[in-house]
Amino acid sequence: MLIVTNEHIAPLYLEPLLQHLESLDKVETLILPAGEQYKNLASLELIATTLLKKNFGRDTTLIALGGGVIGDLTGFAASCYQRGTDFIQMPTTLLAQVDASVGGKTAINHNLGKNMLGAFYQPRAVLIDIATLNTLPEREFVSGLAEVVKYGAIWDQQFFHWLEAHTQRIIDKDKEALCYLIKKCCEIKAYIVEQDEREHHIRALLNFGHTFAHAIEAQTHYQQYLHGEAVAIGMCMAAQLSAHLDLISFADVERLRTLLKKLQIPLNLRHEASYDEYVTLMQRDKKNSQGSIHFVLLESLGKAKIMKHVPNNLLQQVIKGYT
Ligand code: NAD
Ligand code: GLY
Repeated sequence: MLIVTNEHIAPLYLEPLLQHLESLDKVETLILPAGEQYKNLASLELIATTLLKKNFGRDTTLIALGGGVIGDLTGFAASCYQRGTDFIQMPTTLLAQVDASVGGKTAINHNLGKNMLGAFYQPRAVLIDIATLNTLPEREFVSGLAEVVKYGAIWDQQFFHWLEAHTQRIIDKDKEALCYLIKKCCEIKAYIVEQDEREHHIRALLNFGHTFAHAIEAQTHYQQYLHGEAVAIGMCMAAQLSAHLDLISFADVERLRTLLKKLQIPLNLRHEASYDEYVTLMQRDKKNSQGSIHFVLLESLGKAKIMKHVPNNLLQQVIKGYT
């Protein structure tokens, strides 16, 4: 068994995990530097080298102890080491607990694009300990809440209402509230992925807000916004686009914005980019086909759909008008 983690997480959680595993014969650890820039080919090679040097065969299990970076990288290593070994996700960020660790998307980045090398490869198990959220920087925690709101907005109206009613408990990291919301997000994601693992149809709904968010992240070279922060802004833009198309009301857009704000997620754009810059980047989205940008839009707060042809003038209105 090889535990892959990073320099931030190892001092906090590696020792307790090793104690739990002490009855096993062969448990090795690999501690990587922290950061998205290490979700790359060099780290993948380092994992493979470690496994080979320690004579691990295909019957071994990799454990990903960390956030989405460690989870995506370790999952991808498991998918290709000797054509596939088991792996277990132990996510330690809220984003990884509600999204990245579930559903089997694994990947590393290439210099020419994020998540460009990867595989759909399911973990054997996802083990979540919400106590790890106590050491997570507050900004990371709040950013993860954007993905939580996403599930309510695209799939589950009752969950959306529950989030509206419990914002204070969530901000206070009330244990019962956190357990409820993490379980709910995992259940929704698992249900969707069971039906469409390879994103041919409904899995794409999980990308609500992400078409805009990926453009925002790329415009700012992944430096200015955490992923969830960009997703929150992207969800507001997608909701506004839905309202311009008469799918939802502008009051619904405001309701979404209010929930995100109450959860302390910043919604202001902190950089400038033109409509053309958005469109160029959005055209590269993996969901697109036949040259048109596919948008995930809301039909109500709790229901989403994909739309393949959106009038340019409405898109322009949303991007130029976003405040
Ligand atoms: P991350 O993995 O970079 O973790 C954020 C920061 O928090 C890091 O510095 C990390 O070392 C630190 N950290 C993690 N857990 C901690 C803890 N408990 N206490 C203290 N510090 C802790 O960020 P993330 O938001 O978890 O993941 C982002 C990555 O996930 C991106 O690479 C993204 O592409 C990927 N992702 C994947 C999927 C998927 O479906 N596979 C979905 C969403 C995002
Ligand atoms: N994070 C979106 C997905 O897993 O499909």
